[in-house]
Amino acid sequence: MAGPSKEGNLAETLNFPAGALARGLEGGKVKVTVVGLGRIGLPTAALFAESGARVTGFDVDPTVVDETNAGRCKFVDEPGLGDLVKKHAVGRTLRATTSPDDAFDSDFIVICVPTPVDQGKTPDYSAVRRAAEEIGVRLKRGTVVVTESTVGPGVVEGMIGPILESKSGLEATSEFGLAACPERSDPGKILKDMRSLPRIIGATGPGCAAAVVELYRRALGVEPIRVSSPRTANAVKLTENIFRDVNIALSNEFAILFEGLGIDAMEVIDACATKYNFVPHYPGIGVGGPCLPSNSYYMIAEAMKDGSIPYLVRMAREINDRMPEHVVELTSQALNAVGKTVKGSKVTVLGVAYKPDVRDVQLTPVEKAIRRLTAMGAKLSVYDPMYRGETVMGMKVAESALEAAAGADCLLLATAHTEFKKLDLKALSKAMNKAAAFVDGRDAVVPSSATSAGFFYCGVGRSLVPPERREPTEAPNDTAGAGVRRRAPWPRP
Ligand SMILES: NC(=O)c1ccc[n+]([C@@H]2O[C@H](COP(=O)([O-])OP(=O)(O)OC[C@H]3O[C@@H](n4cnc5c(N)ncnc54)[C@H](O)[C@@H]3O)[C@@H](O)[C@H]2O)c1
Repeated sequence: MAGPSKEGNLAETLNFPAGALARGLEGGKVKVTVVGLGRIGLPTAALFAESGARVTGFDVDPTVVDETNAGRCKFVDEPGLGDLVKKHAVGRTLRATTSPDDAFDSDFIVICVPTPVDQGKTPDYSAVRRAAEEIGVRLKRGTVVVTESTVGPGVVEGMIGPILESKSGLEATSEFGLAACPERSDPGKILKDMRSLPRIIGATGPGCAAAVVELYRRALGVEPIRVSSPRTANAVKLTENIFRDVNIALSNEFAILFEGLGIDAMEVIDACATKYNFVPHYPGIGVGGPCLPSNSYYMIAEAMKDGSIPYLVRMAREINDRMPEHVVELTSQALNAVGKTVKGSKVTVLGVAYKPDVRDVQLTPVEKAIRRLTAMGAKLSVYDPMYRGETVMGMKVAESALEAAAGADCLLLATAHTEFKKLDLKALSKAMNKAAAFVDGRDAVVPSSATSAGFFYCGVGRSLVPPERREPTEAPNDTAGAGVRRRAPWPRP
């Protein structure tokens, strides 16, 4: 691929260099294509349209295209997005297509397709590759291709750029622009984050970087941060998410340790947080979603290509991936403590989404816990306010927590939805079988409110075993490991 020295030519070749963008957007002359109209691509397309660009959304899914053209948006958990999509679909400043021949005659092409990991935890870049091929055969001189999809450092320069070059016969840096602007926003507040978080932009030359910086500054109203290359931009994105994954793993490791030592992990973390250089992260049932669990694997894959082994990142993944199993162990122990076993008990799972107030079950850790409890012989019922009345993971989601909990022996709180902060624990306990347990996988309720409602309470990182009572007891036959201790209520504040 061409090096940055060819950039001089590109400044003259770009359809819209930085200096021409303001007028171009005001006059509705700048054409932007967004590839992939999902949780990231749809708001990106709508915001570009809002800034004055003429936007084409290209998606391989005809339903997504039809819905977008009809001004409908399936992301009901994204405040403001539905109205924005409708406004620009009706005004025809955003139109969607499944036809690549109608999609790529643009000044900027922004790739927002999925980048999951496969069963073997290897990054699956097939959608990005396919998108690059479709763009490449239609690429025109002067266009800038920006990758927003999360990819490993070096994938833009080492995979996307060469595909575009070989399919188009054009040279990156001198004849078309190549940039990375990884998406950093959080589901549930995508529009708010897009309009307030600075974007990280790395491009293959200063003229291209300046144009992309200007485009995003105008579209989002936030000053982007320009870094030296696409690989650096992608490294920033992965580093910020891996920082979280590793810190959550540390809190999970300590949570398990503290449960055994009779120490309350939340009390420790909250006290640590009073020091200026401590960044609090909290333990829980696990880490899910399209980003955090996968992003570590993108970095691991790039490191391994380079002959390095990122031990800490790998270990953090293992710890976080084991947390659903740990929560199942807690559930088993809690049921044992009220004289029951998982086998034959009814366990009500509150929350299936991978994070609060989001309608998304991608890589949710709750699924692993549900599968394990089912395999152990529990009868499961589920309630999640984002999926009321629907079927998720083969289970019918109840209409309310109370409906799901009727006749249950244990509540397992697995997602800290806002609705669950206001649970009527007394009413739930009344609707359940006597001697009921409450397992908090997300530190969502005050422990004393559960015990005063009549539950046997336990939670991740919240030991209920006073140190003097930590002698091993006979392991109940349905617990996951030998030597598991029976837990007893410990008076809590
Ligand atoms: N969802 C998030 O919270 C989030 C946050 C930050 C970054 N990201 C990253 O953004 C990227 C997109 O994620 P998403 O959550 O929007 O995905 P998504 O699954 O919500 O949407 C992806 C869309 O791309 C379409 N698509 C798939 N292959 C295509 C192709 N070859 N050409 C055109 N369209 C195609 C799909 O039909 C779908 O509509 C991923 O790399 C992801 O890691 C996601």
